[in-house]
Amino acid sequence: MCGIVGYIGKKKAIDILLNSLKRLEYRGYDSSGIAIYCEDEKKLDIIKKSGKIKDLVQEIERRNPSSSHIGIAHTRWATHGEPNDINAHPHFDCNKKIALVHNGIIENYRTIKSFLLERGHKFKSDTDTEVIVHLIEEFYKGDILESVKKSLKMIEGTYGILVLSSYEPNTIIAARKGSPLIIGKAEDQMIAASDASAIVSLTNQILYMQDGDIARLTKDDVEIFNLETDRITDKEFEQIDITLSQIEKGGYNHFMEKEIFEQPEALQNTFRGRVDIVNGTFRLNGIKDKFRDLLNAERIIITACGTSWHASLIGKYLIEKFTQIPVEVDYASEFRYRNPIITPKTVVILVSQSGETADTLAALRESKNKGATTIGICNVVGSTIARETDCGIYTHVGPEIGVASTKAFTAQVLVFFMLSVALGRKKMLTFEDGINLIKNVEIIPDKINEILNDKDRISKIDKIVEKIYNKTNFLYLGRGINYPVALEGALKLKEISYIHAEGYPAAEMKHGPIALIDENMPALFISLKDSIYEKIINNIKEIKARKGYVIAIANKGDREIEKIVDDVIHIPDTIEELSPLLAVIPLQLIAYKTAVKKGLDVDMPRNLAKSVTVE
Ligand code: F6R
Repeated sequence: MCGIVGYIGKKKAIDILLNSLKRLEYRGYDSSGIAIYCEDEKKLDIIKKSGKIKDLVQEIERRNPSSSHIGIAHTRWATHGEPNDINAHPHFDCNKKIALVHNGIIENYRTIKSFLLERGHKFKSDTDTEVIVHLIEEFYKGDILESVKKSLKMIEGTYGILVLSSYEPNTIIAARKGSPLIIGKAEDQMIAASDASAIVSLTNQILYMQDGDIARLTKDDVEIFNLETDRITDKEFEQIDITLSQIEKGGYNHFMEKEIFEQPEALQNTFRGRVDIVNGTFRLNGIKDKFRDLLNAERIIITACGTSWHASLIGKYLIEKFTQIPVEVDYASEFRYRNPIITPKTVVILVSQSGETADTLAALRESKNKGATTIGICNVVGSTIARETDCGIYTHVGPEIGVASTKAFTAQVLVFFMLSVALGRKKMLTFEDGINLIKNVEIIPDKINEILNDKDRISKIDKIVEKIYNKTNFLYLGRGINYPVALEGALKLKEISYIHAEGYPAAEMKHGPIALIDENMPALFISLKDSIYEKIINNIKEIKARKGYVIAIANKGDREIEKIVDDVIHIPDTIEELSPLLAVIPLQLIAYKTAVKKGLDVDMPRNLAKSVTVE
């Protein structure tokens, strides 16, 4: 989950590295640092600082290092060792001839550390990472690439690393296993980074490194070897189509705000080109080779983490409703450790915005190992999960930078909707059903726009935020297809406003949690006019009878509900199967506005990182 970047070329390395680090900061922001080769002094210099990148920038200004055209940099999400200056990357070997940045976890670092301590190496930090650079020093016999190779062969765990050495000051060594690493090429310049957002300001020509790859980069060449076979592997650079404007805030105060407001257009991109009006279905070319496996599946398992797991719960509801194929949803972190039952007729769907989440990736590999057909639902094109699944469906919502996921969630739900309609049309849905479902999807972006751009609704949300921002607890309640939306609303509030929040199926309240209700416990109900509306009204009354403060998300025309709750946020009508796409929007806004009201760092909430590439 840390971000790493390395640059070599004709420009000032520090400028490029800092610019790229800012784009990688969403991956971790406990500390950051750079290592450069100072051409005048002919030595390496490391500048690093705990805190955010702005703190590093101040430190660099204070130190005013000499000019350089090669360097590596890191932004950290702490795993081993507290987030202080010493544990910040890059790390040096004993003689300050080699510097290294690392994203991942070295599992056998204790054993390696003892081995190195016996040989007289001196360690400065508490990190697992530092062992790698001392190991490279230990094995160095005049060829930096060879010593990195030898070191990596001893290492167990995951890594994306970049190595800079004053022994070979025109070279950066890059290697990956389990942590993403991408190389970008421009005229007389080479850049390597954890993801494309750190590269696109320089070039659109990129090459995805594979697990087991180790590369030697110079300003105009890259050689890639396979660590196991030691052979050179031929790889082509490809053109990617991320633009700079997609990864900038574009007039919004925060990425999260931008991404909430982008949803109408983002969702249009998700279904664009996939509507098959002639056959009353959706055309999902990415999975056409495995479509039969899905149709004939005895069981589908969907596995994911966090917000993607919530979208998967909605996916289960939709697939079962339209196809009657049994679906299980599992946390990826649990799935891989519980010996899941996978038969040749099991299809596993892996859902991940980043396509790099370590638990989801491990679940994918376990599923493949057991012979399942695997299908990815990812946002980041070319990500590891997207590449390792048999086939997949991209959500196509562009880069999501805000740590709290918003547009990726709605897009994942939409992909599940399209998938279940496409499968359902081969089973129980008629042509008319298909056309009706398509028509309803096509007007969803306008309906989201209606929620986002109605001043009265937004000022209602602001008033609600005034009432809740200083509370310490919050309940989100929903039923059926909107129960996962309650979970998602609670997660959004927790992660960016630090208010303890829980999502529950509304009817479960009476089995315990209702004991929590008093005038200090706000409860938000998703109470739409669907098949269980009357039941949810009963649940609301149970809370009101105990003096709870109740907010309802209700349909536009529902005036009755205003009489029984304290505040109502009305949303446009749609069919039940698409209602999560509208119901979640006010919940995203409540979380966002509450965090802003509390003066918190919305895009970089404490302790979190966007892409969780450690288990
Ligand atoms: C919450 C959030 C996380 C992610 C989770 C999985 O707002 O963003 O819960 O959903 O870490 O990430 P991906 O989807 O990248 O696998």
